[in-house]
Amino acid sequence: MMLQRHHRSSILSIVLVLFAVIVLVCAQDNHDAPLTETDINDSAIQPKPPSNPAAVDRQSILSLLEANDGGAMAELLRTSEHLTDVREVLGGPGGFTFFAPNNRAMSDHASLLKNRSVDYHTWLRYLLLLKPMTVEDMTTGHTKILNTSLTGTHEHLLPKKGSTKDYVLAVEKRDKYHMVWSSFPQSAAKVVKRNIRASNGVLHIIDKVVEPPMTAEWTMQNTPDLSQFSKVLHSLNMSTKWLHGETIFAPSNAAMKDLPSELWSPARQALAMQFHIMHGAFYTDNLNTGKLVNSKTGATLVVNKQSDDNITISGAKILVKDILTDNGRNHTM
Ligand SMILES: *[C@@H]1O[C@H](CO)[C@@H](O)[C@H](O)[C@H]1NC(C)=O
Ligand SMILES: *[C@@H]1O[C@H](CO)[C@@H](O)[C@H](O)[C@H]1NC(C)=O
Ligand SMILES: *[C@@H]1O[C@H](CO)[C@@H](O)[C@H](O)[C@H]1NC(C)=O
Ligand SMILES: *[C@@H]1O[C@H](CO)[C@@H](O)[C@H](O)[C@H]1NC(C)=O
Repeated sequence: MMLQRHHRSSILSIVLVLFAVIVLVCAQDNHDAPLTETDINDSAIQPKPPSNPAAVDRQSILSLLEANDGGAMAELLRTSEHLTDVREVLGGPGGFTFFAPNNRAMSDHASLLKNRSVDYHTWLRYLLLLKPMTVEDMTTGHTKILNTSLTGTHEHLLPKKGSTKDYVLAVEKRDKYHMVWSSFPQSAAKVVKRNIRASNGVLHIIDKVVEPPMTAEWTMQNTPDLSQFSKVLHSLNMSTKWLHGETIFAPSNAAMKDLPSELWSPARQALAMQFHIMHGAFYTDNLNTGKLVNSKTGATLVVNKQSDDNITISGAKILVKDILTDNGRNHTM
């Protein structure tokens, strides 16, 4: 009897010790304890048996680039003196997600990259998320807005200083592929190699260069379907530079035709334009059926959402959703 009880209590203490170890391991995980490659326990990173060869490789994101059609990005990271910290992050411990344009995308954008409006450093930090995420963690269907490593930071951005509050990235699943974008949803990048597990996170290879969000002004001027709205704003001396996080429901060129704006006084036109601007960050992922009210202008818009791709705003259909800008976001309707 004594023996049995003793036996039982030692089993209990073994169980308790095991439990303590598990708790300790979990706690370490939560605090992103620095891990070296040799500390990594296979089953901890890779709960499921790996199905592709890349997943077996537990090297850093940086060292996995080359073998995954990201050689040009690897080269840029290795050779640019301004990217030391990004290189260290991608080659070190921790848990991150990185979207690397493939070699073709990098060469297609070679000239664009040379004349970039933002520096490489800002660009690469925009493609970096501060936690490891598979595409399934991001979204299984709906449009999602992801924080990047720049979101909400106040950094020196070249060539301008500014808030990076709105430096977010949009992702959605279209048919088989996950697509990511910033200011140009219609030319979103496709995730062509997904969920490449690295010792320090997850690498995804995309088929286009995705740049950080542009200014609202620039974005509207460079979105063909918004040229009319942009022109009218300009003629009214209404600048979007003063915007700080508002959402613009911008009428498309076809919709602008219905607005007899040239017959109206500038004041009336300006009022009409202001009705398309709402305070607050409204993305497809947080727009819900109901009313939006701008307390400053009194503008009210009625949202009717059937699905991410079937949203009407006071009867007007959203044609292009989630156009991200560095001081807000637009939707074309
Ligand atoms: C890794 O962890 C699992 C439990 O999570 C354990 O069963 C396994 O023995 C560990 N492997 C090594 C090599 O430490
Ligand atoms: C994203 O960043 C913003 C600004 O820093 C923050 O308010 C928000 O909670 C973050 N969202 C997530 C999901 O981390
Ligand atoms: C816009 O600004 C220009 C130059 O400052 C001025 O001539 C014009 O009348 C202004 N237009 C409106 C609608 O205020
Ligand atoms: C969008 O939703 C409306 C109902 O509000 C429906 O009548 C319409 O057929 C839907 N359109 C598409 C393309 O699904």
